[in-house]
Amino acid sequence: RNVAVILAGGTGQRMGLAIPKQLVKVAGKPIMEHTLRVFQSSPQIDEIIIAMAPGFAAEVAAIVARSGCTKVSRVIEGGATRTETTIRAINAVAATAGGEVNVLFHDAVRPFVDHHIIEDCVRALERYEAVDVAIPSVDTIINVDDYRGTVIKGVPRRDLLRRGQTPQCFRLSIIRDAYRLAIADPDFTEGKISATDNCSIVLRYLPDVPIFVVPGSEQNMKITHPVDVFLADKLFQLSSHNPPPPGTLEDYTARLTGRTIVIFGG
Ligand code: CTP
Repeated sequence: RNVAVILAGGTGQRMGLAIPKQLVKVAGKPIMEHTLRVFQSSPQIDEIIIAMAPGFAAEVAAIVARSGCTKVSRVIEGGATRTETTIRAINAVAATAGGEVNVLFHDAVRPFVDHHIIEDCVRALERYEAVDVAIPSVDTIINVDDYRGTVIKGVPRRDLLRRGQTPQCFRLSIIRDAYRLAIADPDFTEGKISATDNCSIVLRYLPDVPIFVVPGSEQNMKITHPVDVFLADKLFQLSSHNPPPPGTLEDYTARLTGRTIVIFGG
C-alpha cells in the first residue's frame, strides 16, 4: 500500500505573499491542486494525506472537493518546520495504516512531478527501504566558510553532486525509526543538526539503510521565489504534464510543446 503525504505546512516566506505559496493560482488552479491531481490520478497511489498550514483548512477542503481527490483520507495541521510537519504526518499515517506501508513525502509546491517518477519510486521501494529523487547539478556547488558565504572553502566534484527533489519515499517503519532516534538525540532536538529533508535523517540515524536514488526531472522544480511562479505558468502552458521518459532532444521539445519540432532543419 502506497500513501502519499503532501507537505503543505509552510507559509512561503521567500515568496512574500499574504497567502501560502501552495495556494497561489497558476494556470487557473492553486499550485497544490495541480500536485494533488497528479497523485490522485497515479495508479500506484492508494491514499493521500495532506499536511496543511494552520488556518487554511477551508481552502484545502474546497480544493479536495473541487478536484475530486477521492484518495485524500485526512487533512492534518502542519508544524512550525518541515521536519515537524513530517513527524505529524508520520504519526497520522501510522494511526491509520495498521501495518507496514510505503510513504511518499512530496512537496505541495512541486506540481510538475509526473507519473513516471512516482512509478519509479514505487518500483524502487520493492527492493529498497528508502528512496530519494534527484537530478544532476548544472551549477557548480561551492562550500563556504559560514552563513554569510563570503569565502570559498571547497569546490566538490560536480559530477558527484545531485539536487534533491521529492518524492522522498520510505517504508513507514524505517522513517518512524529514524525519527524516533532523532528525537532522542539532543543535537537534533536543540536544532544543531540541519535537517531540510527526510533522507538526511535516515542517513544520519540509520546509516546501514541504503537510500536508492531515482532520477527526477528538471521540470520537477520547487516553486520558491516569485520568478518560479512565472516559470511554472510557462511550463503549464507548454507541458502535457505527464511527459514520457527522457529521450532525444526532439522528443523533449515535442513533450514540452506538444508539437513535433525539427531542430536542425530538414
Ligand atoms: N513545509 C511544511 N511545513 C513547514 C514548512 C514547509 O510542510 N513547516 C512544506 C512546504 O509547504 C513546501 C515544502 O515543505 O511544500 C518545501 O518547503 P519550502 O519550499 O521551504 O516551503 P516554505 O517553508 O513554505 O517556504 P519558505 O522557506 O520560503 O518560507
